Amino acid sequence: MKKKRLPLIIGAVISVALIVSIFVVINYKNNQVNVASDEEQPAAEQGKKDTPKNEPTKEPTKNKEPEEQPDENGYYPNQTMPTEPTYINGILIANKKYPLPSTFAPEENPEARQALNMMIAEAKKQGFNLVAFSGYRSYDYQTTLYNNYVKRDGQAAADRYSARPGFSEHQTGLAFDIGEVGKEDLWLTEEFGETPAGQWLFDNAAQFGFILRFPENKEHITGYMYESWHYRYVGTEIANKIKEKNITLEEYLGVE
Ligand code: DAL
Ligand code: ZN
Repeated sequence: MKKKRLPLIIGAVISVALIVSIFVVINYKNNQVNVASDEEQPAAEQGKKDTPKNEPTKEPTKNKEPEEQPDENGYYPNQTMPTEPTYINGILIANKKYPLPSTFAPEENPEARQALNMMIAEAKKQGFNLVAFSGYRSYDYQTTLYNNYVKRDGQAAADRYSARPGFSEHQTGLAFDIGEVGKEDLWLTEEFGETPAGQWLFDNAAQFGFILRFPENKEHITGYMYESWHYRYVGTEIANKIKEKNITLEEYLGVE
């Protein structure tokens, strides 16, 4: 009886051993295939595989950095208004990237006004009767102005020549819109820049501390179309440097 069972037991052991070996070999091969598919996949393909996994974590990061991508009107969609104005190297800046607080109300800057008066007096001596027809503007006044321009021309057009409330340099008390007395029809026009008075202003403003703030062909930097009439007081030293180099305030301050 015992002798008859022995071959059976040996057969069963061999069968189990075979089954186990086959299982181990198959498992090993599967593992090898998986490792290879991860390592050898082209980077682009791996990227594709990772994209859906990574997307949910990338989205909030994008939302936190809206200021890096201005919209088609030059504004930053999720920008929060500041509680303090921005000074770069001691120079107050107001543009589409650096707005002013709605509470910032410095009124007209006396140094800028004095320089303006001297410039107007000198222009008169040369036969040009200049006048500043717009100077300091409060946040609320800029709101009214801007809204009216938007009603008249639509927002996209208005954003090229009128600042949204909080974004206007006129709110700094350092900017003036200048034209010629008796030539009101040329106020706020490009043509003013081509008149002898406009030319004199362009040539001489820096000596009095003023820069033409929105020059021709610099809209991509300043955010505004050419304004032959808008001058900003920065002091004679900086104004002369900006004029000599034919650059904008943004370029001078390194924030273009
Ligand atoms: N016209 C200039 C951009 C302003 O509104 O401040
Ligand atoms: Zn202006």
